[in-house]
Amino acid sequence: GGVITIDPGFKNTGSCQSAITFLNGEEGVLRYRGYSIEELAEKADFLEVAYLLIFGELPTQEQLDKFYNDILDNAIVDDDVKKIIDAFPKNAHPMGLLSSLTSALTAFNPSSVNVDSEEEMYNAIVKIMGKFPVLVSWSMRKIKGLPLNYGSRKLGYVENIMKMMFEKPNEEYEINPIVKDALDKLLILHADHEQNCSTSTVRVVGSSHAGLFASISAGISALWGPLHGGANQAVLEMLEAIKADGGDTKKYMAKAKDKEDPFRLMGFGHRVYKNFDPRAKIIKVAADEVLDDLGVEDPVLDIAKGLEKEALSDDYFVKRKLYPNVDFYSGIIYRAMDIPVEMFTVMFALGRLPGWIAQWREMRLRKEPIGRPRQVYTGENYRPFVKINKR
Ligand code: CMC
Repeated sequence: GGVITIDPGFKNTGSCQSAITFLNGEEGVLRYRGYSIEELAEKADFLEVAYLLIFGELPTQEQLDKFYNDILDNAIVDDDVKKIIDAFPKNAHPMGLLSSLTSALTAFNPSSVNVDSEEEMYNAIVKIMGKFPVLVSWSMRKIKGLPLNYGSRKLGYVENIMKMMFEKPNEEYEINPIVKDALDKLLILHADHEQNCSTSTVRVVGSSHAGLFASISAGISALWGPLHGGANQAVLEMLEAIKADGGDTKKYMAKAKDKEDPFRLMGFGHRVYKNFDPRAKIIKVAADEVLDDLGVEDPVLDIAKGLEKEALSDDYFVKRKLYPNVDFYSGIIYRAMDIPVEMFTVMFALGRLPGWIAQWREMRLRKEPIGRPRQVYTGENYRPFVKINKR
C-alpha cells in the first residue's frame, strides 16, 4: 500500500462526489440542487424540497401528487410497533426510541432490505417517508401520554405531522398557518447539509448494502450526540441553566473561554461555517415571528440574544470564527410550539430524513464501494502469548 494520511475527524478528506448540496462555509452559502436555501425556505414547502433533494429536480404538480399519494399509501405502521413503544420506559430518550423503531421497520417490511433497482429504491423511499412522521409523532405522544393516532388523506405532509403530534383526544385539531409555515421552514433548513456526521454514517452503513431503514437508523444515532443534532436540546438546557443561575451571561461566556472548563457555548461554532450559518439567519427571523404571533414572551430568548451579542463582539469567538449555528434558535421555536425539549433532536431527524435518503440513493446509484478507511497502527509489536497463571 501507499502512504496513509491520517485526518482525524475527516476535516480535510472528501468522501464522495455529490450533486445534491452545495455549501461554501467561508461565504455562508447553502444550496440544494442549485437552489438557494433562502429562496427555498421562503417559497417552497417541505415535501417539494424532499422531492428536489431525492430526485434532483423541483417536481411538477403531477409528480408531487403521485409522490405524495404513494407516501400516503404507506403512512400506516404495523400494529405490533405499538407494543415496542409500550415496552420502552416512559422516560426513555425519544432519539433512542426513534432509532430502534426505524430499525424495527425492517422486520415488518422485509421487501425493503435488499434494494438494487431504482424501482425497489423508490418503494423503500415512499415507505420511510410515510412511516417516519408517524414514528416521530408517536414518540412525542408517548412522552405526553396521549393515545396514538394517524394523519388524514385530506391534509398535506407537514399538516399531517402537526395533526399527529398535537391532536388531542375528542378535539378537532386546527392547523395554525403561522406555525405550519415556521415548521415548513425549519424542516427545509434541516433537510440536507452534505457530508455531516449523520449523513456520512448513513452513507457508510448503506455502502455495505444494508437496507435503507437500517442506514437511517444509524444516522439517527449519529445525530443524537450533542456535538451534532443533539445541540438543539443542549442549547435550551444551557439557556435554562443560565436563567436559573440568575441570567449572568458574562459568567458563562468566561466559562466557555476557559480551556480548563469543559463547558462550551452550545449552538455556537460549526465545522464548515466560518462566517455565519445562513440557516441561523433565517431561523432567527422565524423565531421572532412565531413568538410574536403566539404571544409568547420567553425570557430564555432574551438570554439567547444577550449571549449572541456578547459572543459576536468577543475576541475569543471572533478569532475562532464562532457564530451562532442553526441550533441556536430552533429550540426556541419548538418550545413555543409546545414540543418538549427531548423532542428537539427528533425534529431535526424529521427534517434531515430527505437528505439522508437522497445521499443514500445517490451513493447506491453511483455504485460506490464499501466505506472502509485505513489507519496507522501505533500498538505493540509482536509479543508471545502469556498464560493467565504467569501474568
Ligand atoms: N464554545 C467555546 N469554544 C468553542 C466552541 C464553543 N461552542 N466551538 C469551538 N470552540 C473553540 C475550540 O475550543 C477550539 O479552540 P482552540 O483552537 O483554542 O483549541 C476552536 O474553537 C475550534 O473548535 P473545534 O472543536 O476544533 O472545531 P470543530 O470543527 O472540531 O467543532 C463543533 C465544531 C460544532 C463541534 C464545535 O464548534 C462545537 O462543539 N460547538 C458546540 C456544539 C454545537 O452547537 N453543535 C451544533 C453544530 S450545527 C448543527 C449540526 O450540523 O449538527
